[in-house]
Amino acid sequence: MKSNTPLQILGGLTAAEFLRDYWQKKPLLVRQAFTDFENPLSADELAGLALEEEVESRIVIEHGAQPWEMRRGPFAEDEFSKLPETEWTLLVQAVDQFVPEVAELLEHFRFLPSWRIDDVMISFAAPGGGVGPHFDNYDVFLLQGLGKRNWKVGQMCDSQSPLLDHPDLRILADFQQSEEWTLEPGDMLYLPPRLAHCGVAVDDCMTYSVGFRAPSAAEVLTHFTDFLSQFLPDEERYSDADAVPAADPHQIQHDALDRLKRLLAEHMSDERLLLTWFGQFMTEPRYPELVAGEDMAEADLLAELEQGALLVRNPSARLAWSEVDEDLLLFASGQSRLLPGELRDLLKLICAADALHIDNLGPWMNDEQGRALLCELVKQGSLGFAIDE
Ligand code: SIN
Ligand code: CO
Repeated sequence: MKSNTPLQILGGLTAAEFLRDYWQKKPLLVRQAFTDFENPLSADELAGLALEEEVESRIVIEHGAQPWEMRRGPFAEDEFSKLPETEWTLLVQAVDQFVPEVAELLEHFRFLPSWRIDDVMISFAAPGGGVGPHFDNYDVFLLQGLGKRNWKVGQMCDSQSPLLDHPDLRILADFQQSEEWTLEPGDMLYLPPRLAHCGVAVDDCMTYSVGFRAPSAAEVLTHFTDFLSQFLPDEERYSDADAVPAADPHQIQHDALDRLKRLLAEHMSDERLLLTWFGQFMTEPRYPELVAGEDMAEADLLAELEQGALLVRNPSARLAWSEVDEDLLLFASGQSRLLPGELRDLLKLICAADALHIDNLGPWMNDEQGRALLCELVKQGSLGFAIDE
């Protein structure tokens, strides 16, 4: 995607303008980001998903057994008929992994790295429904799918911002409204991380939240050091072969800190390991159990493709690639593979194409390493054959 093309989804801004002026900085309201938006999922279908064991869902009722009562799914069918007429919301996570038409919405967000995208959460709210004033630690695009929703935005928050005393929900005790908009189907509101917001349904309302992920500094440090430590032998230790007699044997001198800093710097600056860890971490699937592979011989895979079968990405898989010197790293659902530079176009195709088939795979069908890679990805579960082909 060219960064100087005005994008309708950004209200005519180019990706570069949006990233420079709004991304991670301030809200952007886009009227008719999607013209004639066709809601890809009905409220009943959303409720149907919330009955499923493998789908994460919640219902928030403003005046339930306690103020802002939260119930966790999966729900029994009759639970919906017992809900009040107004002031409740059903929220379903990662609907893109279960409904291909919802996953297709993500194609409009290709001006951002795909590994930054978390999921598409969908809410259905009865009139007056909402989850209360809160902030999230991630960027979000809130696309109105059905009915109207009133959005208010407020102050920038952080972990010190006072919250209501609630076991499950992080509702702000104090909301200082700065702007307000009512969104209709096809309208979209971008919110940067930590901006207080509060959405209230005007009528029966569905909102699609395209959420992004960014690891916290604490996660980066914990997970990267855990990863690094696998490669460090036990004999590699704090060492002070350069020591001189201590003035006071009970004092920790700053030369000890310098040695520690050198030890840390040496390992923390290993770019290849950092990249390997980051790619693996950012492609870890949300539901690993849904990335189950199948044992398949390369010959069978080729035969299927030759007969016209389509290989598609598992909607629960995450893929990304990167360069390391002359080589490439492919990250697939939390695993990495070092591959020769000649496979670059195949890697790009695997990450981006809607489907892989004999026509777009073309010469890769005769490439030994290319075939082996496709076979491995099928075995791992990141790719699979389209079911109805
Ligand atoms: C909602 O869709 O009801 C909530 C989305 C949000 O505020 O993060
Ligand atoms: Co929010």
